[in-house]
Amino acid sequence: MSRRRRIYEGKAKILFEGPEPGTLVQYFKDDATAFNNQKKGTITGKGVLNNRISEYLMVKLGEIGVPTHFVRRLNMREQLIREVEIIPIEVVIRNVVAGSLSQRFGMAEGTVLPRSIVEYYYKSDELGDPMVSEEHITAFGWASPQDLDDMLSLSLRTNDFLTGLFLGVGLRLVDFKIEFGRLYENEEMRIVLADEISPDSCRLWDVKTNEKLDKDRFRRDLGGVAEAYQEVARRLGILPEG
Ligand code: C5P
Repeated sequence: MSRRRRIYEGKAKILFEGPEPGTLVQYFKDDATAFNNQKKGTITGKGVLNNRISEYLMVKLGEIGVPTHFVRRLNMREQLIREVEIIPIEVVIRNVVAGSLSQRFGMAEGTVLPRSIVEYYYKSDELGDPMVSEEHITAFGWASPQDLDDMLSLSLRTNDFLTGLFLGVGLRLVDFKIEFGRLYENEEMRIVLADEISPDSCRLWDVKTNEKLDKDRFRRDLGGVAEAYQEVARRLGILPEG
């Protein structure tokens, strides 16, 4: 991985120039951060697991017609993706009260929401990813009303599909964060799912015991972080590479 041009390095991933124009290689690191970079650590083997889990979920979403940036997995830590123009908005979809929603409104974690809540956050490390409304997004030109419409409908389809998929393996999809990009192809632009979907970006609780099998184990120092990610992969039928 050394001689390729590094396009961007984030907290958990690196993007390298891809083998063909319009492609990138997404490399998954073991590094973990939380609370806007205030907490840092390493989860051994996380990159390998997230590469596989995100591949699995993106492929399944592609099969039901949700367009994604994913092309194919290249090796243990890398996947080939289409180059997109990332929209600087994190979309969070919540089915059960947890995390910042619980803190903001003083509601007990675990309260099932009568309908899913969609929130938008502006991606900015300096500002600490502030929550924004659709008005801010369109007024500041981060996304057009049409982009937002596409992002919302893809988010809801993704939530419906992933909720069922995880429930099928005994996991409750409490909430998750997704990102979108603009893909330019044949003089046309379409909005596609980008980044990753993994236990770094989802809250997943065991349906029977409510055990947390996601990054909250790292954020809250609960221990067994790598084991939790392995358990998610195992339940999805993703076996360790021999
Ligand atoms: O912290 P909060 O409760 O707002 O997080 C909601 C969901 O979004 C969680 O599943 C969390 O893992 C995810 N998230 C993320 N990246 C962020 C913020 C939240 O993946 N920067």
